[in-house]
Amino acid sequence: MKKTALITGILGQDGPYLARLLLEKDYKVYGLVRRYSNPNFSNLDFLGITDRVEFVDGDMTDESSLINVLKNVRPEEVYNLAAQSFVGGSWDQAKLTTEVNAVGVLYLLNAIKSLSPLTKYYQASTSEMFGLGNTNGYQDEATPFHPRSPYGVSKVYAYWMTVNFRESYRLFTCNGILFNHESPIRGIQFVTRKISDGVARIKLGLKKELRLGNLDAKRDWGFAGDYVKAMHLMLQHDQPDDYVVGTGENHSVREFVEKAFSAAGISDWKKYVVIDPRYKRPAEVPDLKAKPDKAHRVLKWQPEASFDALVKMMVEADLQRLQ
Ligand code: NAP
Ligand code: GDD
Repeated sequence: MKKTALITGILGQDGPYLARLLLEKDYKVYGLVRRYSNPNFSNLDFLGITDRVEFVDGDMTDESSLINVLKNVRPEEVYNLAAQSFVGGSWDQAKLTTEVNAVGVLYLLNAIKSLSPLTKYYQASTSEMFGLGNTNGYQDEATPFHPRSPYGVSKVYAYWMTVNFRESYRLFTCNGILFNHESPIRGIQFVTRKISDGVARIKLGLKKELRLGNLDAKRDWGFAGDYVKAMHLMLQHDQPDDYVVGTGENHSVREFVEKAFSAAGISDWKKYVVIDPRYKRPAEVPDLKAKPDKAHRVLKWQPEASFDALVKMMVEADLQRLQ
């Protein structure tokens, strides 16, 4: 018998990488998609797996749709990746962000509790929950949360609900507190992909400048393909728990820009970058750096792609796409 998994957020960045990993492990994969006049399967197409996923209709803001899906599928594992995940947009759409990222999680956990209580649950928690919080310059499972955006606040609610369902009802629920992870199918609004796409366009003469916000922010950037392995490992462990997942190394946006231009063979990057206040945030998270010792020790998880390899992979993919 094949294991079954339901992935919400299947059409985003992480959904396709996780689906590919589970298909390689011979799972039957269901993907939750919300109604769209023009659904976009391009990220699944990029990995060549669109035809191997079974799509089910539902929306995180519609409780009855989640109940129906749980009733019909009763998956052994649920990976809740669906979210309004763009921090920068969360001030303008704070209510929607809360409904999808926080209340939606409550709906999904309730559906699991009522209809499929043996289902194991993964919650896509985030380093944005730490915000200003740090422990001697890094963040681990014991670091206090101090979120800085409506997105971060919504994810803190979802984090604690996930813990609370574990403690109250003994459900197998885990939080993966993932630091930034990127790939050639990262959404174009996020800074890494905005840079790799912009650099590729400048290289090919399609664009003259790249407009960015705060270049001083530092992030612990890894490769999405490595991080989905940690999600899967959490649900295979004998005890449900919460884990920080990151590389343990961070870099500024400026360093990312410099490396991306250099990967395209352009050394004078300052000629092309324009600082635009529109891309600065009302409250910034200045510095994120994971201490993923617990994931190394308990899950035996290690990232493989280096920062340099990630930047090169993204720039090369965008050059290829545009050529
Ligand atoms: P993403 O590319 O933005 O994908 C999010 C997915 O959620 C999209 O497929 C989107 O569907 C879906 N979605 C949004 N609203 C929905 C709704 N109301 N009902 C059902 N589905 C909905 O995000 P990602 O980078 O893959 O990240 C996956 C998860 O990990 C997110 O929860 C994110 O907050 C979290 N996370 C990400 C990172 C990171 O660095 N990538 C780090 C930590 C945590 P459409 O395609 O229809 O828009
Ligand atoms: N998006 C964007 N666009 N960010 C910019 C820009 C710009 O033009 N210029 C500078 N930045 C800075 C942001 O201010 C932020 O400090 C940093 O680049 C990273 O921004 P994003 O790539 O948008 O990612 P994020 O760190 O805010 O959020 C991502 O990572 C979180 C995990 O820490 C998202 O994937 C979240 O969903 C995820 O939880």
